Amino acid sequence: MFRLTFDQARRLKAQYGTPLVAVSQREMADKFSILAEYLPGVKMYYAVKANADPQVLGVVRRHTPYFDICSPAEILAVKELGARPEDLIHTNPIKKPEDIRFAVEQGVRWFVFDNEFELDKFLPYGRDLNLLLRLSFPNTDCVVNLSYKYGVPAEQAPALVRRATEMGLTVRGLAFHVGSQSLNPYKYTDAIHECRRVFNLLASEGIYLDHLDIGGGFPVEYVESIMPLRSFFAPIQEALDTYFPTATVMAEPGRFVVGDAANLVLSVVGKSRRNTVWWYYVDDGVYGCFSGRIYDHCDYPIITDRQGEREQCIIAGPTCDSFDVIYHNSVMPPLEVDDTLIVYSMGAYTTASASHFNGYPPARIVLVD
Ligand SMILES: Cc1ncc(COP(=O)(O)O)c(C=O)c1O
Repeated sequence: MFRLTFDQARRLKAQYGTPLVAVSQREMADKFSILAEYLPGVKMYYAVKANADPQVLGVVRRHTPYFDICSPAEILAVKELGARPEDLIHTNPIKKPEDIRFAVEQGVRWFVFDNEFELDKFLPYGRDLNLLLRLSFPNTDCVVNLSYKYGVPAEQAPALVRRATEMGLTVRGLAFHVGSQSLNPYKYTDAIHECRRVFNLLASEGIYLDHLDIGGGFPVEYVESIMPLRSFFAPIQEALDTYFPTATVMAEPGRFVVGDAANLVLSVVGKSRRNTVWWYYVDDGVYGCFSGRIYDHCDYPIITDRQGEREQCIIAGPTCDSFDVIYHNSVMPPLEVDDTLIVYSMGAYTTASASHFNGYPPARIVLVD
């Protein structure tokens, strides 16, 4: 986990102002080394949605050629960096026909689907495209359940693959996402095992799949600590070795690559004592980087270097909306106006979903070593 010191944070603040997000290139490099060590041979498609900042994508590009994209803008963003279209996978299960056309014109050849109505949209391209069928594996041991909206239960998979094959389309494999910030590796191993069953059943009918996409979801540290990464990845790798020794295995990490590689540097812009409780107003809020509080259900550690007795307080963002409260029930030592605060693990699903509401632009992103 990357942690700025307060000296570093104040230097960045003096240079760029706040709010700013400092992204550690070294931490991102370490994340790719960990993935290469613990999941050797798995092709890592960075999930652009987690953080699509061009500088961040540039760092990712130094470590993997592969990207998981979902929209025309994401395709253009990674092509701008020199990513090759054959190294992209379009993972949005539901797409506008014109978005598929755009992707195909851009050279994208790998797509994900999860229902028969989507298959019609691929007909104009026939066997040119490689399709992966997304399965659902509901998971309560994760922070964001991604099987609520997408994916079919494994038992429906063979019929859908058969249907696609009858339509003259090419299904190359299965994909799943066990949920973001997934804390339990055995959700992956169960899913991998289930996918093997589907592969085997289809093979017995002469339909041979050769790709498995295990999605993203690998966890990072926020307020709560997570299990040691070696212990997290070991059972997943073991299941892949056991059930998919020869298939091409892909993954789509987003949060794991950039989540705890970034720190947000904030300033206290005002304070007020209201109904005996301290309110501290800071220069980023739920319409900015802390949008992750809403959409990503995350608790981020906010750090001060002030000493003193910690007291219950409310930390609010800069916009005029009463909804713009980051923490209704925090504890801090007494803070002063212009104090610098650091927030860890602010790299994924933060700036990505920040808005310009009330005229406040999203925090600037600055790469650091
Ligand atoms: C299809 C797909 N792949 C990959 C990701 C990235 O997941 P994570 O950031 O948990 O690694 C997501 C996240 O929403 C997703 O929907």
